[in-house]
Formats: sequence, C-alpha cells, structure tokens
Amino acid sequence: MAEIAIGIDLGTSNSCVAVAEDGTVEVLPNTYGEHTTASVVAFREDGSITVGNAAKANIIHEPMRTIHSSKRLIGRYFFSEEVKKSQAVYSYEIVEGENHGLRIKVSDELFSLPEVGAMILREMKSIAESRLGQPVEKAVITVPAYFNDNQRQATKDAGRIAGLEVLRILNEPTAAALAYGFGKGLNQRVAIWDLGGGTFDISILEIGDDVFEVLSTAGDTFLGGDDFDDRLIDLLADEFMSKEGLNLRNDPYALEKLKVAAEGAKKGLSVENEVEIRIPDVITGEDGTTHSIERTLTSDEYAVLVNDLIQRTFKVCDEALQQAGVVARDLDGVILVGGPTRLPIVRSSVREYFQQDTKADVDPDQVVAMGAAIHAASLVNPAQEAYLLDVTPLSLRIGVLGGLAEGVIERNTPVPIEQTRVFTTAVDQQESVEIRVYQGESQEASENELLGQFAFSEFDKGRRGEVEIDVTFEINTDGIVNVTARDRANGKQASTRIALSSGLSEGQIQHIIKEARTDRVETSAEQQGQVLGAIPLQSIPAPTQDLVEVEREPNEGAEQAESVELETLDDRDTDEMEILASDGSQVGADADASDLDKNTQYVETQSDFQLLSDGEELALAEESLLESDAPQTETFEQPGVDLAETAGDDPEEQS
Ligand SMILES: Nc1ncnc2c1ncn2[C@@H]1O[C@H](COP(=O)(O)OP(=O)(O)OP(=O)(O)O)[C@@H](O)[C@H]1O
Ligand SMILES: [Mg+2]
Repeated sequence: MAEIAIGIDLGTSNSCVAVAEDGTVEVLPNTYGEHTTASVVAFREDGSITVGNAAKANIIHEPMRTIHSSKRLIGRYFFSEEVKKSQAVYSYEIVEGENHGLRIKVSDELFSLPEVGAMILREMKSIAESRLGQPVEKAVITVPAYFNDNQRQATKDAGRIAGLEVLRILNEPTAAALAYGFGKGLNQRVAIWDLGGGTFDISILEIGDDVFEVLSTAGDTFLGGDDFDDRLIDLLADEFMSKEGLNLRNDPYALEKLKVAAEGAKKGLSVENEVEIRIPDVITGEDGTTHSIERTLTSDEYAVLVNDLIQRTFKVCDEALQQAGVVARDLDGVILVGGPTRLPIVRSSVREYFQQDTKADVDPDQVVAMGAAIHAASLVNPAQEAYLLDVTPLSLRIGVLGGLAEGVIERNTPVPIEQTRVFTTAVDQQESVEIRVYQGESQEASENELLGQFAFSEFDKGRRGEVEIDVTFEINTDGIVNVTARDRANGKQASTRIALSSGLSEGQIQHIIKEARTDRVETSAEQQGQVLGAIPLQSIPAPTQDLVEVEREPNEGAEQAESVELETLDDRDTDEMEILASDGSQVGADADASDLDKNTQYVETQSDFQLLSDGEELALAEESLLESDAPQTETFEQPGVDLAETAGDDPEEQS
C-alpha cells in the first residue's frame, strides 16, 4: 500500500485536511460532516481541550478560555504591533514568554503558540486517521506565502508537537495553483487571490506541463475577513453607544456577541442582498434593564463599510504584478481562495481590477488543502511529482554598521537558494563577529523582522580587514533560513538554523512533546465515541480530470456553509441571537474575532539593534564599508560575545 501523507491547510479561522490517493483528492470531513474545522481551541475548566466548531461556539460563554485566530500570533515577538493589537481586542490573555516570545495564559497554564497550533493540527490528524482508518504521520502544512521565517519555523514546530513529520511547508497560493492545475497539462499564467480570515496573499504563477513557477508573491499578514467583521462591530457598537449610551466594547460578553452577529451578517450577505441583525440582551445596564440590537443591513451599506479593505488588497496586487513583470490583462485566470471571496462585493471588485471573470470552478475553502494533499502524495510517491518553483516573499538581509540592513537575497528570488558573502572584522584582533539576520524590505535594520543572530568566533584572529569570513545564507524549499559562517583561512565553521529570538528551542519543543498536553485534546471522533471509517463523505475528482465537473458552484457552497452554521446555531448555544436574511430565513452566525490593520513590521528600540557593540565590529568586505568609519574601540573583555548581552536588551533580565 502506498504510504499516506496528508495535506493540511492550517487557517486563521478554519482548517481543512485532504488526502490524495490513487489519483483522487479527497477533502476529509470531520465528525459533523463539515469540510472545514474552526481553528479554535477551547480550554475547559476540567482540563480537557476541544477544537473546532464546538470550541468556537464556546467563545461567547468563555471568551477568556477560548483561543481563536492564533495563527495571527504564531512566530511573532511579544513587542510587535500585531501582538499589541491582538491584546487590545482578543479576550484571552497574551503574555510575554522567554526571548520576547508569546504565551497564551489560560487559568494558571501557559501555552506557546506552536503548542496551540499543535492542538488544531492534532484534531486534523485525527480527522484524517478516522476517515482513512489508519495512522497518519506525514503531512504537508500550508502557510501564507507572505509568512516570514519565524512564522514558518513556528508552524513546523507545531506540526512536530502534534506528532507529525512535516514533509514540507508549502505556500497556500502555490497549493491552490497545484489543485487548480495539476495533471491538466495547462499552459497558463494565473493569479491566486486569497483573502482568508486574517491574511491576504496574492501570487502570480506560470503553470506549464506540471511545472508550477511562482513569478511573484506579495501579501498583508494583517488583512482578512476578521477585519470586515471589525468594521461592522464598530458600526453596531457606535450606533448602540449613541442610542443607549453604553459601550459594548467594554463588556467581553457583549463584544463576543457582536462578533458572532457581525460574522453571521457577513455570511448572510454573501447570499442575500439584505440581512436582519438581532441581538436580544446584548448587555444589561447598571439599572438591570436589558438592551437589544435590531437592525437591517444591506449589501450596499456593507460595501461602503469594507470597500477600503478590499481596495487595500489591490495595492498589494499592483506590487505582485509589477514584480512578476506582467499586467492584469496578461493573466489567463484569476482564482479566488478564502471565505470572504463568497461575498459578491469582493467578487465584483476583483473582477473589475483584473478585468476578467474569476474561475468559478474552485472551492475557495478547500482548494488549498487539496493542493497540499497533492504535494504530500508526490513527496511520498515521486511518480506523481509536479515541479514547484517557489519564491521567497521577503528580502533576506544582514545587519551592518550604522543600524542598517544590507540585502543578501532579494524578495521574489526562486527558492531553494544559497548565497555566500564575504565579511571581515573591523578592529584588530577582533575576537568575534555578531551576525544578525533580518527579513524585510527596509534599509533600516529596525524596520525589518529580526530572524535571529549568532556570534562567530572560530576564525584566526588578525588585523582589521584581513580576516575573511564566508557567510552563507540558504533558504530551503520550506522558505526556512539557514546561515553558516566559515573562516576562509582555517575552514572552521559554525552553522545555525537561525535561532529564533521569539521561537522555541529544541529543548523546549522536546519538553512540550514529553509533557503531552496536546493529549488533552478530545478529538471529535473520541467525543462522538466513533471511528469514522475509511469511506470519505465527499470525493473530489482525480487531479488528472477536469475539476470543473464536480466542484460546487460558489453559491451552492455558500448555501451549504449556511446550513452547517444553522446546525451550529440550533445545536450549540447561540440560541439567543439570530441573523435573518431578508426573506426571514435564518443565516449562520458563529464568531471569530480579530483585530484590524495592516501588516506592520516589527519595530524595536534603537538599543536592541545596534549592530555591534563593545568593540566588535563587523563590516562587509566591500570597499565602502571597509572605508566606513567603524567606531574604534580599545579592548573587549570576552571572546565570543554573549548574544543576549550584545542585543543590549537582555532577555534574561526580562524573563
Ligand atoms: N459565506 C461567507 N461569506 C463571507 N465570508 C465568509 C463566508 N464564509 C466564511 N467567511 C469568512 O471567511 C473568513 C475565513 O476564511 P478562510 O476560512 O478562508 O480563512 P483561513 O484560511 O482560516 O484564514 P487564513 O487563510 O487567513 O489563514 C472568516 O472571516 C469568515 O467569516
Ligand atoms: Mg486560508
């Protein structure tokens, strides 16, 4: 029997698992028959953990114990803007962990983000195992193309903690293109326009005879359907404030109810022109009276609310098209991915921008997992190979004198790639150099994401400028960065998987695996006391066939999502709230809160990013830099710098 490897789309809002076997791709439904599972983790008082839509329904009851949108936080620094925004709007507690990392605090337990991700992955693994009737150990996991190294590494760690061997970290748009084009013998240039819960990605690809070449990719890791919901939440809260004089934002329960209603209304507007929002008992005033919200919302009103968010995606598209050297009309197809693409206003705006109809034969919720599954199958069974030629989304940089960051590998360079640059010392008898690696597009070091840093001292000491150190930067097919430093004279080298400043160390990962808190996840199959058996509920056609034949029409898909949500409403506690479509039928409502705003690069205080300190100067062996007036310092006490110390912001002090 061929080895099984699954594809997992680990989404901000929803995750999806698929398998490609014997020429067919199947999306594996969970015990409720849903093809996607909410990426929400609920920590129950009794210590058990649930994942999925049941967990999501828990948000309005236990907002502090229900972790949603964790993908927005994975691989981030505690001090980053994204984390600050999340702290402001999420009800659960985000605290600082070691090395400026983050932890989620639930009661007195702390969880790292890879561990929370692992809980979701564990549920997806268990869905696959129940459906396939056999253990599953290997997986391809997708990430937004725009994820940086820290985020990719943390996602890979999540897979390991979940007991998966992560065969590949694959970019979501590349996966979508694979599902769209694999085995069809296409020769097309396409755009994958992916608006998810929390991120927007655009990739331009060239597909030719099962070679999938990414020409460019761009994105915004802080723009998604959640931001649409925030717009409506703001509107409802502002209207309520002016009418009733009460601030719903100050009450976590009211806020979660608003979020549920906002998402429900959005979904309703993907199939109707008008929805009725009703939130009875949204809040109880100090005098004990209860207040409600009732309001009609039309598509046109909604379009005004979210239009600038949609327009923001097109700025990113301009950039991607320009980088790929194509114009919109050169494209043979535009493929829509992600839940919000079910909204007519989104579809029509995209159509207008690209001046063409979007492909109607792709399921925006499942296509990424399907592509991941196809790729997973090809990695365990090379006979099914397709060639993926991906690019790095962000420039790789190294810190140099004056707080600057010098580009080493440009963004949109095909990966894997290796680049070696020669560096030298800046003072006589220098004992050690400090190498700091960044990702981003700014010349200013502090405006980029710091991936990590390491000190190299294995070189023969010499006069300033005479020592020659080769520093090799490698980006592998997962988009993960490795850096090696080697003394040209003695051949000694030090190599590092860029040790994340915010990420988990190998020891910590092993500890988490040993502690096995992910075992507390009551997988849905266990909860239902059943093994699902090997027959998938829905089979998606072989990649060698035309997907058009069996894919659902987008509108049907929306209706289907709606009925699933209705079930959620009936069965799972949200009975006090309704979203009604204009014809009086109830529309789904479930919540995924999140905050807004743009992808913001990490900014740190100046002191953290002085390239070199205490007399250790590293300069590029390029004339300009050698000539540059490197500050001359007298002595340095210790060979080999303590990284924490040279960072000027000692993590030990902080933790
Ligand atoms: N029918 C619908 N109409 C409009 N929006 C929808 C619909 N169904 C889901 N959404 C929205 O889609 C978003 C989730 O999209 P999706 O599941 O594609 O994201 P994700 O894959 O989890 O996120 P990401 O790709 O950013 O990690 C949520 O904001 C959700 O409210
Ligand atoms: Mg997605």
